[in-house]
Amino acid sequence: MAHVLGYDATLELVSAAIDEAGDGGPAIAAAVHALKQQMPAYTWVGVYLLDGNELVLGPFVGKPSPHARIPLGRGICGAAATEKTTIIVDDVNADSRYLACSIETRSEIVVPIMLGTEVLGEIDIDSDRLAAFGQDDKTLLESIAQRLAPHLKAADRTEPM
Ligand code: SME
Repeated sequence: MAHVLGYDATLELVSAAIDEAGDGGPAIAAAVHALKQQMPAYTWVGVYLLDGNELVLGPFVGKPSPHARIPLGRGICGAAATEKTTIIVDDVNADSRYLACSIETRSEIVVPIMLGTEVLGEIDIDSDRLAAFGQDDKTLLESIAQRLAPHLKAADRTEPM
């Protein structure tokens, strides 16, 4: 799908933004902003942080979400964290797990952020296009999730974002 740079260049750019931002929350916010800027199909980009049995919304770019806290058993977000795997939904209106954030949203990808086998949080992205996310997006976002994992640990040790 059309975007400003190729996927490899986007990964480099987002990784550089993470490295420049420092530790913890600022690194997460930098990644979210850089991704939103580079990828026009990414309408809403955010990171949820796992807090006990709930996912808590951290840095995001896009419309405010009514889902600031999502129990692990709910939504596509809860499913991705529980199953410890990336979930791509081509048509959110056809998925009974979907928790709506905006009525324009048509597709979604949720990528767990893990250290080893431990889930620390996840990257959640919505698009206003049907089936906006493919294998290239999954690969890109899983690489970014790996780079973000140490920063979620750091964010844990400091103040809430
Ligand atoms: N759609 C998500 C909820 C989060 S909002 O999209 C920001 C879900 O179904 O879990």
